[in-house]
Amino acid sequence: MKIFEEANKKQVFKDSLTYWNSGKTQEWLDLGIDLIMGKREGYYFYDLEGKKLMDVHINGGTYSLGHRNKEVIEALVEGTTQCDMGNHHFPSVVKAALAKTVIEASPEGMTHVVYGSNGGEAIDLSLKCARNATGRRKIISVQNCYHGHTGLAVAAGSERFAKIFLADTTEEHNVKVPFNDLKAMEEALSKHDAACVIMETIPATYGFPLPEDGYLPGVKALCEKYGALYIADEVQTGLMRSGEMWAITTYGVIPDMIVTSKGFSGGIYPISAVIMNDRASQWMRCRAILRIHKALLMGSPMQFL
Ligand SMILES: Cc1ncc(COP(=O)(O)O)c(C=O)c1O
Repeated sequence: MKIFEEANKKQVFKDSLTYWNSGKTQEWLDLGIDLIMGKREGYYFYDLEGKKLMDVHINGGTYSLGHRNKEVIEALVEGTTQCDMGNHHFPSVVKAALAKTVIEASPEGMTHVVYGSNGGEAIDLSLKCARNATGRRKIISVQNCYHGHTGLAVAAGSERFAKIFLADTTEEHNVKVPFNDLKAMEEALSKHDAACVIMETIPATYGFPLPEDGYLPGVKALCEKYGALYIADEVQTGLMRSGEMWAITTYGVIPDMIVTSKGFSGGIYPISAVIMNDRASQWMRCRAILRIHKALLMGSPMQFL
């Protein structure tokens, strides 16, 4: 089937307005932009009329390797001749190999990797790790930030989305501070009740402000002073987009966790990851959780609890 050649633009708009995201579709139409993506190739894509366009947005880093990167597709096709999702209870050849590769490409002190299927899910995982490691609930993030639409991520993000999904944004659980403001950060942390600070190294939805000299190392030092973890959301800034694997290390900071997604699969299949140090990953070595897993596997939870 030739999906793009056979597509009828009017019908795609009609179906999108009816069945998909009508608000977003209408917004584009109101702006006079009636673009539907067709064939994709490298750093270019075509509209349905065959007009070639350079993709300078690359979906926030999803297509850093270009659209439909040949090597990624070949690896995926080869992989599916032998593998599927596997069974989440058992160690896996490919999951272990990828985790090892990711740790080797990460700063010293990073020890474990946990996978998700998208950025939001990985952000939620990182926030849960921070809560487990510290026994604290409060999450400190940056005003107007975006970390995804999942439960904890949307609550940590801008009010714009948190409000419409009735996310828990009470002061007790979420505090938002201005970027590049160490005083506000210290005030938020000084109650010794924050599990973590989560920040993009260069916050995209804030308008891409660059961190001022000393700001990010200052935040890390404050996290250490007040016992909170530092989570670097590198969903957009990671994977060499800053010239180094992780933008955060270019500022001389080694966080407790790094979250990656988008370009992690070159936009070919959904996968994300949280890269963690020993402190953040302690729940993975918790014997109670291991016993529950074992019990579930044996089909008799109570016998192990
Ligand atoms: C910085 C950042 N974090 C997290 C996310 C959430 O990723 P996803 O849309 O895959 O859930 C995004 C998505 O745009 C993002 O830009």
